Amino acid sequence: MTLRRNILSLLLVLLFSVVLTPSCESNRGQIIPYVKVYVPLLLYADLADMGIGTTKILPGEGYKGIVLYRAADQEFYAYDLTCTEFPEHDIAVVEDDNFVGVFECPKCASTYVLVNGAYPNSGPAEFPLVEYRTSIQGDVLLITN
Ligand code: FES
Repeated sequence: MTLRRNILSLLLVLLFSVVLTPSCESNRGQIIPYVKVYVPLLLYADLADMGIGTTKILPGEGYKGIVLYRAADQEFYAYDLTCTEFPEHDIAVVEDDNFVGVFECPKCASTYVLVNGAYPNSGPAEFPLVEYRTSIQGDVLLITN
């Protein structure tokens, strides 16, 4: 009877830990204040000068600006520039002068690497930069949340 009760308790603990543990995806969306994002960009005009492996800053979009990263001809990733360590500090990360796609927080020195899903690779930050959706519709790259 005790064994059965212990097993039941263990199952309940496991169930609650699964239900109450937020997934990475849900954390990422809630870590900075929500701002509606809808940015259409023309592939052969707005992005014509953007080579593969380069970044483009979109100031005034997202919460503290958006960085767009072009991984391949038709493959883009978009991240909010807000440092995720303490979003209430309201600080945008800045691209390293020497390393394209590496962004650093001027306040806490956390660095984020875009080719690594914008996860931090040093500093106190634990969460990646918040990612926005990108999709290509005809000649338009659409960034949304
Ligand atoms: S913004 Fe405050 S810690 Fe990076």
